[in-house]
Amino acid sequence: SLTSVPTGDLAGRRVVVSAGGTREPLDPVRFLGNASSGRQGIAVAEAARDRGADVHLLAAHVEVPLPDGVRTTRVGTAAELHAAVLDAVAAADVLVMAAAVADFRPDAVATTKIKKSADDDGAPVLRLVRTVDVLGAVSHARPHPGLLVVGFAAETGDETGDVRSHAERKLRAKGCDLLVVNDVSGGAVFGSEDNRVVVLAPGPDDGPAVEVAATGTLAKRAVAEAVLDAVVHT
Ligand code: CTP
Ligand code: CA
Repeated sequence: SLTSVPTGDLAGRRVVVSAGGTREPLDPVRFLGNASSGRQGIAVAEAARDRGADVHLLAAHVEVPLPDGVRTTRVGTAAELHAAVLDAVAAADVLVMAAAVADFRPDAVATTKIKKSADDDGAPVLRLVRTVDVLGAVSHARPHPGLLVVGFAAETGDETGDVRSHAERKLRAKGCDLLVVNDVSGGAVFGSEDNRVVVLAPGPDDGPAVEVAATGTLAKRAVAEAVLDAVVHT
């Protein structure tokens, strides 16, 4: 029989992509979540598949259909995503962390549904604790030397700096090889069909970051192709 051999500029490369928003449970029926649709990460997974890569998608909560032809592992929490990433990167050439990972989770998960009490109007106070920074942990641990690590960052300018300066700081702090930066000042990225990004790489001699790519406003699939072009050329 005929076996199809993948062609394309990512043929033979093993690409792990995380996508969607993690959900951190409060009790058996409630969670803290976020507005990520998973569209951008899934577009990266589809684009990598179509360029010949062997893709493993780690899907948190997503609002779009999961792609065909892509091995997919579902995850719920940041901790589950962390475990899945550690497992998957052992046999990967590229990690793309497009997931919107919760920064905080409830410090305890109630084993039974949290009830309103009958005799007062009180409300519970939630105590949150930090989750693992999956991207930072993998970038700094470097599980094997061949792994290229790509992070995403959604930034707004504020009184402490503009989008670019926040992004440069995040690139250094995370220690990843490429950082895909979204300016979310206008609001409409989460759930949108389009995106606009700048891709940064660490500069030589600890100098300013290098701008590897800058897209206009494009469909998320076209942004995904630009991110993968940067991967291929790194
Ligand atoms: N990320 C991660 N684990 C976390 C939080 C974020 O792996 N617990 C990853 C995201 O998948 C993304 C990158 O880190 O690739 C940047 O996420 P972002 O939320 O922009 O940055 P944070 O480091 O969480 O900083 P902050 O939210 O305070 O800006
Ligand atoms: Ca965050």
